[in-house]
Amino acid sequence: MDLPVNVTLVDHPLVQHKVSVLRDIRTGPKEFRELVRELAMLMAYEATREFSLADTTVKTPITETPTRVLAGKKVAVVPILRAGLGMVDGILSLIPAAKVGHIGLYRDPETLTPVEYYCKLPEDIGERDVMIVDPMLATGGSAAAAVHFLRERGAKAVRLLSIISAPEGLAAVTESDPDVKVYVCAVDSHLNEHGYIVPGLGDAGDRLFGTL
Ligand code: PRP
Ligand code: URA
Repeated sequence: MDLPVNVTLVDHPLVQHKVSVLRDIRTGPKEFRELVRELAMLMAYEATREFSLADTTVKTPITETPTRVLAGKKVAVVPILRAGLGMVDGILSLIPAAKVGHIGLYRDPETLTPVEYYCKLPEDIGERDVMIVDPMLATGGSAAAAVHFLRERGAKAVRLLSIISAPEGLAAVTESDPDVKVYVCAVDSHLNEHGYIVPGLGDAGDRLFGTL
């Protein structure tokens, strides 16, 4: 399948292996949480590839040498509640200075449209590289709404990290905001009549928090 512009498929063998275990119905909440955390870290590694560097020098035990460090990048990680929470720690382990905002959205089970119930973002969100995190990109309604809230509050550079996506969700989010950069580990077949991703992994929030 041709991916929309601005969509990156993170398909490293370690990622594919972990996604397979994540999908498995036999994987319980403890292992599920660990896998989501690890996958978020691996995705963040890919999503930060374009971060800029600044020249500096460092003195090794042998000699002084020119080298490069991150150019003071300010990052905000923004999970979509609930399931996005499972991805935060993995990203913070790579970018410990990142601030964390929260967007509370749930899908109305009848209409499948997102309902907002919470939004708390860092005040300087407009100066930060934003990573929205949510393991599932299904219809794309929740992700598109999250991107929209962030744009309204001044966010400029916005990335979306979702472990499993449906083609419908990728199309919806990239069409609603052509500048958002999307990173996914899998593009599945389609959505079923309840808006669940097929084959997917079921309800990510329930599997993370054991509320099945
Ligand atoms: C899930 C998931 C996404 C959303 C994806 O959350 O974590 O936020 O559905 O679906 P969409 O792309 O069709 O909007 P859910 O609404 O089940 O809430 P929860 O995380 O609180 O369980
Ligand atoms: N939300 C989930 O948790 N899983 C899906 O397949 C779709 C939306």
